[in-house]
Amino acid sequence: MDTTTYRGGVSYRVIGLIVASLLVLAGTAVPAIPTAAANEVATQPRVVGGQEADSAEFGFVASVLSTPRYRQSGAYQAQYCAASLTSPTTLVTAAHCLVDQQTGERLRPRDILIAFGSDLRSPGLRVIGVEDFAIHPGYRVKTAENDIAVLYLAQPVPDFPTIELAQGSDVATYDAPGTAAQVAGWGNSRARGNRFLPELQVGNVRVFPRASCGRGKKYDINGVVFRGFSKREADPRTMLCAAGANPAGAIIDACQGDSGGPLTAGVGDARRLIGVVSWGQQCASRLPGVYTRISAETNFLINAGVLAAQPPILAPDIEVLTPSATSVRVRLVAPQDGTRVDAFAVTATDEATGEVYTCSAAPRANRRSATCDIEGLPVGGSLRVEAISGNQAGSSPVSRPITVAR
Ligand code: ARG
Repeated sequence: MDTTTYRGGVSYRVIGLIVASLLVLAGTAVPAIPTAAANEVATQPRVVGGQEADSAEFGFVASVLSTPRYRQSGAYQAQYCAASLTSPTTLVTAAHCLVDQQTGERLRPRDILIAFGSDLRSPGLRVIGVEDFAIHPGYRVKTAENDIAVLYLAQPVPDFPTIELAQGSDVATYDAPGTAAQVAGWGNSRARGNRFLPELQVGNVRVFPRASCGRGKKYDINGVVFRGFSKREADPRTMLCAAGANPAGAIIDACQGDSGGPLTAGVGDARRLIGVVSWGQQCASRLPGVYTRISAETNFLINAGVLAAQPPILAPDIEVLTPSATSVRVRLVAPQDGTRVDAFAVTATDEATGEVYTCSAAPRANRRSATCDIEGLPVGGSLRVEAISGNQAGSSPVSRPITVAR
């Protein structure tokens, strides 16, 4: 694959196709067409309470090294973040691994190297340059929103396993509260003090409920009562909280140096990347670790070329307002089903005459709602309003019809 990334432009052809498909009431997929594409294009530290990783299961985890430090003192000293291999040339990591947290300046691709192999001290470590990277345009240093980026390798690594990203139908299972998940990294293995192990560590954690990741609710794991982050601290829409406690009550968490690394759920072929290590308060405290929620970053991941769009799973929710005798305004909201929505299409059928009226709308970047107006309606009578949403891969099922008497 090339190293160009694509910023999603809504294609009016897509909307057209969606309208057409709704008109014929085909609930099946619109043929995939490419969207109008436009080009777009770190610190020393090191899972607390983890164990050595099984390389067959975690071979997709790579370390991110500082180039000058690598040249001076080797990979073990140069490692400061981690990343997950999603194809032979692409990795997903945290945006904050690529942006100077003080100045907000981006690193250059040549400032970093990616190393494959679980032991940072092994002579067999494979160290590869980075050709380019794409940082989420909505990444904010201050709030750590959208802390995600994609790295493009200078050479492919076909002999390392890759990890699939959670998307669509995976999400309901994998993001559910209490799901068993694993965090992996070379970060600090001590809650107090420092101990950086050369071998990749894996910690068993659980996905917290959203209420404990932005609404402050407590959560109990094995008798350990964790506090939740407040609304001002964490946003459960785009962040996922996780932590673990073993039966003896010892807390398991990511720590400094684990950033950018994976949070996965599922085993073997069913393993999916559900989060990226982003931030925390201390390590292995009574507060969970915070991860970038993969299922909320579908737009960016599709634009960056690491995820193929899937048709929306759920029909949009619709609300119909009647601002005048001859028009209706339809408000559309796409449920958070882990898929991307580029456009909505609405049909309104006059129940007396069978006449069909349509409108369509595109949500603004990173939004899941939009409105559109249908004008020039005959005065009086009743209308049956239905809608679908869609993207380049296809369209959602048709929503439940709403009948409006006018
Ligand atoms: N921001 C940290 C890093 O750069 C990751 C911290 C994760 N902390 C935690 N307690 N889960 O490595």
